[in-house]
Amino acid sequence: MPDILISENIQGVAVDALRERFDVVILPDLWKDPARLKAQIGLFRALIVRNQTQVTAELIAAASNVAVIGRAGAGLDNIDVKAAQRAGIVVTSTPDQNAISVAELCIGMMLLLARHLTNAHANTRAGQWNRHQYMGNELYGKTLGIVGAGRIGFLTAKRAQAFGMKILAYDPFVSPDNILLSELNASLVDIDELLERSDVVSSHLPATPDTGHFFNAARFSRMKRSAFFINASRGSVVCEPDLVAALQEKKIAGAALDVRSVEPPQTGQLETMENVILLPHIAAFTHEAQQRVTTAVCQDVARVLNGQPPHNAVGAAIPEQTFQ
Ligand code: MLT
Repeated sequence: MPDILISENIQGVAVDALRERFDVVILPDLWKDPARLKAQIGLFRALIVRNQTQVTAELIAAASNVAVIGRAGAGLDNIDVKAAQRAGIVVTSTPDQNAISVAELCIGMMLLLARHLTNAHANTRAGQWNRHQYMGNELYGKTLGIVGAGRIGFLTAKRAQAFGMKILAYDPFVSPDNILLSELNASLVDIDELLERSDVVSSHLPATPDTGHFFNAARFSRMKRSAFFINASRGSVVCEPDLVAALQEKKIAGAALDVRSVEPPQTGQLETMENVILLPHIAAFTHEAQQRVTTAVCQDVARVLNGQPPHNAVGAAIPEQTFQ
């Protein structure tokens, strides 16, 4: 019986090392064919995915020999974790390994927006020299509102502080005496106050049933007209038509999106707007982050197959044999 199925494009030295110890089958396009994936999954003891393979309850029901599902990344919205737990399958993820890359991209998006860099670049490449058209703003002294104060929000805020930004945070699951917020000297406020006071609002929300369309018309209306909205978390947290309207009606000044409600998206109005920066979900795509992510997921899958507890288990379902 083969051991490990990798259903997306995941490569590197850690995968090579895994292949020396286990029978690993890599089918980078298999995620595009759920029926084929379902037909094959029963042969394997482990599955490794990124964010494109939809690990549904139906797939899990067919995964009768699978002991572990390794998610190479942080978000778990493509995995039915509860169904996996009910089936006694361990789910692992890599919650920390790409956080610095995402935080760095968030800072990059703020700078792109504040200094009109993408438009100035395109214009200059086209042979123009329009210095006065691209008057921007400093980040210094401005307020960054972090919506979702987990590790990526924290790392983004920490970097923003190096620019002299003040930090507000909203997170209903974080207490006001949280040590990371104290270290940032950040104020934990309610969402309305954050939206009203921030010059940049950065989403760090996971995709859950509660966060769908969290950023909607009412919330964009509360933001400053001069404010920027950035999102490198999940596309589902934004109601895109409401964002388009807020930008068209100049309720906010601009937006940078690394993630979309449907990926890849249909070309629409956002693609035509001057004050919008669009990226293809690349926040975690650095050599450094991917090396860490791949190493962590491969190590954890190997650990579970060898009867050891993983370092990054999601939830509490760990088969009994891992503690023997
Ligand atoms: C993550 O959740 O880790 C990033 O968004 C990248 C990915 O989805 O693979």
